[in-house]
Amino acid sequence: MTATRVDVNVPGGSYEVLIEPGLAKKVGEHVRRVAPHTHALLAVDEGIADTHGPTVQASLEGAGYDVTVVPLRATEPDKTMPAVQRVHQAMLAAGGAFDRAAPVVACGGGIVGDTAGFAAATFLRGMPLVQVPTTLLAMVDAAIGGKTALTCRMAGSARTSSARSGSRG
Ligand SMILES: NC(=O)c1ccc[n+]([C@@H]2O[C@H](COP(=O)([O-])OP(=O)(O)OC[C@H]3O[C@@H](n4cnc5c(N)ncnc54)[C@H](O)[C@@H]3O)[C@@H](O)[C@H]2O)c1
Repeated sequence: MTATRVDVNVPGGSYEVLIEPGLAKKVGEHVRRVAPHTHALLAVDEGIADTHGPTVQASLEGAGYDVTVVPLRATEPDKTMPAVQRVHQAMLAAGGAFDRAAPVVACGGGIVGDTAGFAAATFLRGMPLVQVPTTLLAMVDAAIGGKTALTCRMAGSARTSSARSGSRG
């Protein structure tokens, strides 16, 4: 199978979807093409942190990024503000290295994509977000469209709060 690129044009911008066997090893070169920077935040699903995580991290480092890795647990109760705050705190702990041009890379299923995407959308009013989906649902749905959401439990019912990444204010 050869590489496939789909350009998605939406009001206010555009993004690309890349489909290719072994693409995880090339994440770094593609991230550098769209979001060149000294630092990158890699949010990775804990369940695949030992299998997929090192490949993506090595690719980012090979492309010249200083990578901060944040493992995230992929359960619905974890798709909440404390996980977003862990991502924000990891970036703040880097002492100013993460400005609004630094990329956030989400490697995992829809839970990690939503959590890291929400974190990217709400740090410095929006940072570049690259999704590396590792589940079928994330590949065909959750990682596409730019929407991200968290689970909020209020008054006994589940509500969703959402944000779009890449926004500027
Ligand atoms: N933002 C959107 O537009 C959108 C759209 C649809 C769904 N979602 C959200 O996506 C979430 C569901 O995502 P999901 O179904 O992709 O999975 P998930 O993120 O819920 O993960 C399910 C399980 O699969 C594991 N996993 C991930 N990658 C794996 C791999 N390669 N091999 C083996 N196990 C792996 C995870 O560790 C986890 O245990 C929901 O929270 C839903 O609300 C968001």
